[in-house]
Amino acid sequence: MFQLTRSVTWQALERLRDKTANDRIRDYFTNDPQRFEKMSLRVGGLFLDYSKHQVSDEVLAKLIELADHSALVQRRAQMFSGDIINVTENRPVLHTALRHLGDEPVYVDGEDVMPEITRTREQIKLFSEAVRSGEWKGYNGQRIKDVVNIGIGGSDLGPNMAVRALLKYRHPELHFHFVSNVDGTHIQKVLSRLDPATTLFIVSTKTFSTQETLLNAKTARRWFLENAGEDADVGAHFIAASTNRKAAMEFGIREENVFEFWAWVGGRYSMWSSIGLPIALSIGFEGFIELLEGAHEMDRHFIEAPFAQNMPVLMALIGIWYINFIGAETQAIVPYDQALNQLPSFLQQLDMESNGKSVDIFGHPVNYKTGPIVWGQTGSNGQHAFFQLLHQGTRYVPIDFIASLKPEPGVEDHHFALLTNMLAQANAFMEGSQGDSKELSQLDPYSCPGNRPSSTLLLDELTPKNLGALIALYEHKVFVQGVIWNINSFDQWGVQLGKRIAGEISERIDANAADFDASTQGLLELVRAHFPTSARKADSAEPASSDKKPVRKKR
Ligand code: F6P
Repeated sequence: MFQLTRSVTWQALERLRDKTANDRIRDYFTNDPQRFEKMSLRVGGLFLDYSKHQVSDEVLAKLIELADHSALVQRRAQMFSGDIINVTENRPVLHTALRHLGDEPVYVDGEDVMPEITRTREQIKLFSEAVRSGEWKGYNGQRIKDVVNIGIGGSDLGPNMAVRALLKYRHPELHFHFVSNVDGTHIQKVLSRLDPATTLFIVSTKTFSTQETLLNAKTARRWFLENAGEDADVGAHFIAASTNRKAAMEFGIREENVFEFWAWVGGRYSMWSSIGLPIALSIGFEGFIELLEGAHEMDRHFIEAPFAQNMPVLMALIGIWYINFIGAETQAIVPYDQALNQLPSFLQQLDMESNGKSVDIFGHPVNYKTGPIVWGQTGSNGQHAFFQLLHQGTRYVPIDFIASLKPEPGVEDHHFALLTNMLAQANAFMEGSQGDSKELSQLDPYSCPGNRPSSTLLLDELTPKNLGALIALYEHKVFVQGVIWNINSFDQWGVQLGKRIAGEISERIDANAADFDASTQGLLELVRAHFPTSARKADSAEPASSDKKPVRKKR
């Protein structure tokens, strides 16, 4: 059986790790004046500088050999052509079809899925145009002013991140809110500022069975019924993005307002589907299509570019170098644009839910590290919070710096400061505080050692298209790493376990909890004291179909 760590290339990389252990990144530049030109790359409106890494030419060549010897070419083709690569859930993985804008068919089980994708896109177009123009009316004839997306995980993070990132393109009369936390104060706080007559709720849930989302959706519906319309009016204020049409309709959503998507779209890969509806509502359907175009352009690059010039492949391989050979445990994501402040959270789910696995696709335990801990926040704030540890702490943390080049009119000076700060940090991480004077740094115990690696990703401008390309870049990076580690990046059994036990605990809180461990029982005892049985029942997250009160059809 093939064992990754026993492969000739892997072992050569281990030897290279020892050989280059004392290399200084800055010396790579001194020895090779062409390093920046050689180790930077443009794809559309994205520019990647990967020269500030502790990666010699020899290491890079070996990493590319690792990709060459992996199943990447085959698995990439399988993904794009709808083969079942999510083997544990027995599904294809076809988020790339959602941004496929050409005429060519994409087959799943012998059936071309493009007509349904195009039909749903058309539905998104018509609906978003109706809401944006004011043609869509609430129950008493007023136009929609606030849109509340209720969802969690992939049904929240993608649209939330993208709507914020593209806020400057937002419809001026529409305001967007995202409710995800089951903590009732989250939805309460949002609702307290809204008028039910002018609010539209999007219940975003692939399964229409996620406890947090259903509970929030029911609270929103109750608030709507208490403060405005009747059951029959729910349809004018609630729509759904879900694969579970039946449950959405039982909730009171009109059939034509259930925006479909498909089992072959993973939650964390779903912002290109009807889960992206808030994006289309915010920036308009044309902007949404531009987002898809940017992602599609990155897909084409990922398929066509040789590995040595392939942006996602290079980013994946450099990540593998740090994770598997240098021993880095984490990856920092540091966007400098405030508009990208949700990007670290989005990428955290994308990467950690995809590659947080410890068995390979055959179910055998792996004997190497897989996905890193992904974390971060905006750079200016990070500089005054966690950067100290990155400069002088005992951890080794590769960083992705991300920023857009084009300033917003009127705040050019801010944007200039933002970019110069980012470049200064990337330089300081590499150079340290003592420049090339080894003697000085040995004398000064408070100096910054430098030799800390980073990539810099520049967007010409923060447009829908460039954002689409950026997200697709990271999706493919995660995919490439998953293929090299031979894991399934598309299931999430750990998350499912948590969901199942949450259900069991709430069902068995009164009796029959004896088979939980003593700690859980003790903690349940404390919880129980605060919740009389009636309060627990009232907050049950069962689908609305089981509600006592029937939902009447629209008048
Ligand atoms: O977080 C786990 C997960 O299954 C994600 O993949 C998904 O995006 C999220 O839960 C929410 O699930 P749903 O969209 O079905 O409500």
